[in-house]
Amino acid sequence: MKIGAITAVVVGCGDRACVYAEEGVFSLKKIKVVAAVDPDENRLKYMREHFGVPAKMCFTGQDELLAMGKIADCVINGTMDQYHKQTAIPFLEQGYHMLLEKPIVNNEADLMEIKRIADEHGCILMTCHVLRFAPFYRKIKETILAGAIGKPISIQTSERVGYAHSSMSYIRGKWRKESECGSSLLLAKCCHDLDLLCWLNNSTVPDEVSSFGGRDFITPENAPDGAGTRCLTDCSEEVRRNCIFDVTPMYLNNCLLPWYPWQCTGKDYREISDEEKIDSLKTYNPHGVCAFKAGGDIVDHQVVSIKFANSSTAVHTMVLGCAKPGRSIWISGTRGEIEGRADDGILFLRNYDRKTSAYTEQKFDFCELYGETGGHFGGDKGLMADFCDVLAGKTPSVSYTSIEDSINGHVLVYRADEAMQKGTVVKFVE
Ligand SMILES: NC(=O)c1ccc[n+]([C@@H]2O[C@H](COP(=O)([O-])OP(=O)(O)OC[C@H]3O[C@@H](n4cnc5c(N)ncnc54)[C@H](O)[C@@H]3O)[C@@H](O)[C@H]2O)c1
Repeated sequence: MKIGAITAVVVGCGDRACVYAEEGVFSLKKIKVVAAVDPDENRLKYMREHFGVPAKMCFTGQDELLAMGKIADCVINGTMDQYHKQTAIPFLEQGYHMLLEKPIVNNEADLMEIKRIADEHGCILMTCHVLRFAPFYRKIKETILAGAIGKPISIQTSERVGYAHSSMSYIRGKWRKESECGSSLLLAKCCHDLDLLCWLNNSTVPDEVSSFGGRDFITPENAPDGAGTRCLTDCSEEVRRNCIFDVTPMYLNNCLLPWYPWQCTGKDYREISDEEKIDSLKTYNPHGVCAFKAGGDIVDHQVVSIKFANSSTAVHTMVLGCAKPGRSIWISGTRGEIEGRADDGILFLRNYDRKTSAYTEQKFDFCELYGETGGHFGGDKGLMADFCDVLAGKTPSVSYTSIEDSINGHVLVYRADEAMQKGTVVKFVE
């Protein structure tokens, strides 16, 4: 394939789309960005300066570009959750292949409509389930496919969202209200995990699901005694000293995810001054509000249990505000087990040992890969490479996330949320 031979339009030129474009253009050298769509002029400026998109091919709305007909091979769609449908369908109807961020959409009817339109127009539509591409999870998949643990009987996963990430994305961040972003916490954060459960156990399909959870801990009633409404305006030093969500250490001194909290300033986070940050936190920035009073309507903990058609089972636990962030997994099979913590990059394969009546253990270490291979335990890079390969007509990897193969995980999320709301067991196929 020629360098930059795949032409792409970036729709929604935010954090995620730029991660993929960066991989495709500069690391893999297989993508050329020929046009960009984003209502935010700053983002378009970045696309011009960083990816060399011609000024006349930068658009604040998609209609002008769509009116030109199909001008590229694919779309990298990195719009926020609530815009996926309206930004995906018109491009698919013109025959653009598409890399579409997760969650695809928040309901089954729209999901199936997008799939139908992609199929009708012969489009490759790939979902950004980046974790499947992380060497850690890929190793698990390959181990299961090789038969090393026999058939999965039970899978247990957890997603512990660290307290800083929880605050910046979910408690004070842009996913804090399902009523605004369209996604429940399970959909926004753990459609990856439920996708993994389906993918790792895909010799069968989900049959029934139950779920419990709620917004029970990060609530106004649980704010520290005497807490104000904004850390930097009416909350005392004494109260803030004992509060894990105080903005001074979390946002000003450490700021682990700087691309989120300063978005509302309209400035690139790499250019904003400390004074501007403080001023925003004191006045209009939602991240300056007391975490306990930030008005979110998503859950802060949820557990999902699934029975598959072959009677194997799975449980996923998701918690906001954890001390140590991370994802863990334990799969017990008919011939052995796999256990690991993705954040520590450590995986164990254990098999029965007849000689000792105990077990053998192999350890796999993925730690050194993390620095080199980028975000999501190395998944971002692998995903983009697979997308380019599929567009070039090559055989996709074992991690490939076609729309077809992403449906079960998404529907499982819809069913789990329904089960939690209704307090009942829900059939996967209704
Ligand atoms: N795969 C993952 O693990 C992962 C991780 C984080 C976020 N995400 C998902 O990626 C998506 C993007 O998240 P982000 O944090 O990069 O968002 P972002 O806010 O940084 O970027 C979204 C961009 O879309 C633009 N936009 C808004 N309306 C638009 C429209 N109608 N047409 C074109 N552009 C429009 C915004 O101005 C913004 O620049 C979300 O769906 C999010 O859930 C996925």
